[in-house]
Amino acid sequence: MPKLAITGKGGVGKTTLAALLAHSYQQEGNKVLLIDADPDANLASALGLPESLSKQITPISEMDDLIEERTGARPGSFGGMFSLNPKVDDIPDRFSATHRGIKLLVLGTIGRGGGGCICPESSLLKNLVRHLFVGRSEVVILDMEAGLEHLGRGTAGAVDAFIVVVEPGQRSVQTAGAVKRLAADIGIHRVFIVGNKIREASDRNFVLDHFSQEEVLGFLPFSEKAIAADMQGLAIFDADEQLVRAAREIRERLAVGSEE
Ligand SMILES: Nc1ncnc2c1ncn2[C@@H]1O[C@H](COP(=O)(O)OP(=O)(O)OP(=O)(O)O)[C@@H](O)[C@H]1O
Ligand SMILES: [Mg+2]
Repeated sequence: MPKLAITGKGGVGKTTLAALLAHSYQQEGNKVLLIDADPDANLASALGLPESLSKQITPISEMDDLIEERTGARPGSFGGMFSLNPKVDDIPDRFSATHRGIKLLVLGTIGRGGGGCICPESSLLKNLVRHLFVGRSEVVILDMEAGLEHLGRGTAGAVDAFIVVVEPGQRSVQTAGAVKRLAADIGIHRVFIVGNKIREASDRNFVLDHFSQEEVLGFLPFSEKAIAADMQGLAIFDADEQLVRAAREIRERLAVGSEE
């Protein structure tokens, strides 16, 4: 079962693609675990989880008691010793919410206040992400910010596809270039591009001018319905059949690529 990580510049559509792909795999009869590793977590809303329920989800990084129990140190305590290999294998099933047949686990931020840190919470989260990629049997999709704090060398080898979302424009393309270099540095080699918010042929061509045909997995059309769904808190995969179809094509290309 594929283990995917989705990244890219802020606002390009990472969460949208993560939710669409999760739905597509689920519709094919697969078990899917979707992981929100964005500090500004909003995958729950892309799945259409009502706000009253999503507000009840506590990100793992904020579970101080759990972190202390597993690592031996409380977040925010300084100079203490903590485990670098805490037990995590029960966390996905215990702390995920299931909605529309998709399991959602919200990780939260590593190192409060941004950036990485050498601290109990980062030890727990890094070990958890490694476990999710190495030790789970279902489809795993990680929605993450453009930094690679959650992924270390121990996890890199288990990433089947690292998908960088871009939109037509220099800025997201530059971010994609930087992310690709970071990924290569930690040993991730199957890096792909998805072009989002495509309105016309020139948008597609813009993406194809910057990336090779082989690395471009596919495109998602620009969709007014996606924007409306976001405003109304509706599941993105209920909002626009065209997006659902495009996500299916991307999933199929991923499957072909991994058989090679
Ligand atoms: N294909 C699309 N057509 C139109 N709007 C889109 C499309 N994809 C995403 N959007 C809109 O762009 C905004 C950002 O999308 P999304 O939240 O998926 O991006 P993101 O990369 O996860 O952002 P962040 O960096 O904030 O996590 C949302 O308002 C979303 O509805
Ligand atoms: Mg997002």
